[in-house]
Amino acid sequence: MDSIIVKGGKELKGQIHIAGAKNAALTLMPATLLSEEPLTLTNAPRLSDIKTMTALLQSLGTEVTSMQDGKVIALSSHNLTTTKADYEIVRKMRASNLVLGPLLAREGNAIVSLPGGCAIGARPMDIHTSALELMGAEIELKDGYLHAVAPGGLKGNVVPLRFASVGATENILMAATLAKGTTVIENAAREPEIVDLAKCLKAMGAQIEGEGTSRIEIQGVDRLGAATHAVVTDRIELGTYMLAPVIAGGEVECLGGKMELVKSFVEKLDACGVDVTETANGLLVKNRNGRHTATDVITQPFPGFPTDLQAQMMAMLCTADGTSVLEETIFENRFMHAPELIRMGADIEVHGGSATVRGVDRLKGAPVMATDLRASVSLILAGLAAEGETRVNRVYHLDRGYEHVEQKLGAVGAMIERVQGE
Ligand code: UD1
Repeated sequence: MDSIIVKGGKELKGQIHIAGAKNAALTLMPATLLSEEPLTLTNAPRLSDIKTMTALLQSLGTEVTSMQDGKVIALSSHNLTTTKADYEIVRKMRASNLVLGPLLAREGNAIVSLPGGCAIGARPMDIHTSALELMGAEIELKDGYLHAVAPGGLKGNVVPLRFASVGATENILMAATLAKGTTVIENAAREPEIVDLAKCLKAMGAQIEGEGTSRIEIQGVDRLGAATHAVVTDRIELGTYMLAPVIAGGEVECLGGKMELVKSFVEKLDACGVDVTETANGLLVKNRNGRHTATDVITQPFPGFPTDLQAQMMAMLCTADGTSVLEETIFENRFMHAPELIRMGADIEVHGGSATVRGVDRLKGAPVMATDLRASVSLILAGLAAEGETRVNRVYHLDRGYEHVEQKLGAVGAMIERVQGE
């Protein structure tokens, strides 16, 4: 398995191009299942999660063509061959469950493996299923698979979500575009990826209002058509690279970055003494006066501080001036990076859902291991300022969500290389 080796101590300077959002692409791709006509996505990120979603859609009969080195994905679902999403693919990636809503809406039935737990928590599907049941679906769990049928087709209804789940909002939004009548999603998630999905569905002919607010209203239509859609910028990749010059020193312009995607994150950076300025092409980041200071962070659904930036923020706070408290409210087990950062000399105490980080002057390089995607990249960030060499092992998690990380950081001056494992 490949490893990434980072040698710390080099200031960064230059530009990093931010890719299209993984989490948007993973819900835009299954939207193809709603239509017999082609869907073309541009600005797609080149990631292993995209390959997994490609394999899943192909297993259902979708034709998927990757063009321009993977940046353009052409999808056509005119002839679906099965409505079963197999465990062998679903177990690799939880976002596979995003085929449930579209399959049920288009075909009236779907058999989708339950994804199971992952490193960061249990991740059940009750919010998805109870919402679909309110729309007339009958869902049963058999042999680890959700068997869903909608004998008379899905019907619009008022669907309150007990928690603003991103995936459930996406599944219901997609399903409702082809349901009979009006669906109102209450307590909907407001993430930019949901706004991007709604934009694409509207281009396909869906009638949607209120995306980006907690009340989304969808008027079902008989069929959806063809569309071409550019994937929104990845705000998590953006936030990750914005932290690099804060940790290593220097200044980096993140091309394609937009303030509206990372507002709460930028507020925290400002509190830490980091300047973020909008430029013609993106966001420019640099420390205001040398060392950055501590701050407290609570993860929240959008527009709050994203859980997907918590690990990277912790890596930054390890060398901040003062003590920070990070509270994780979205996932129950998302501090797996803390013990690895401690191996690099960080002073962190974890108590259940919160972590106290006392800033130290310097981290020290060490061999470390990543247990999930965002944890992997947080260790690379930490390595940028650590004394000596940091070797991040098991980087297959990283390839799920970051394209060409070593090229992107290398181009702004980081000493980073990938070594191939056996
Ligand atoms: C999405 C993102 C993920 C991000 C997360 C929260 C994708 C592909 N992934 O994941 O990167 O970390 O949003 O911003 O977009 N829950 C339930 N029952 C359900 C559904 C969720 O209890 O039916 C719980 C989960 O266990 C978790 C919380 O709700 O604790 C948030 O989950 P959710 O918003 O659904 O996240 P995902 O869509 O899986």
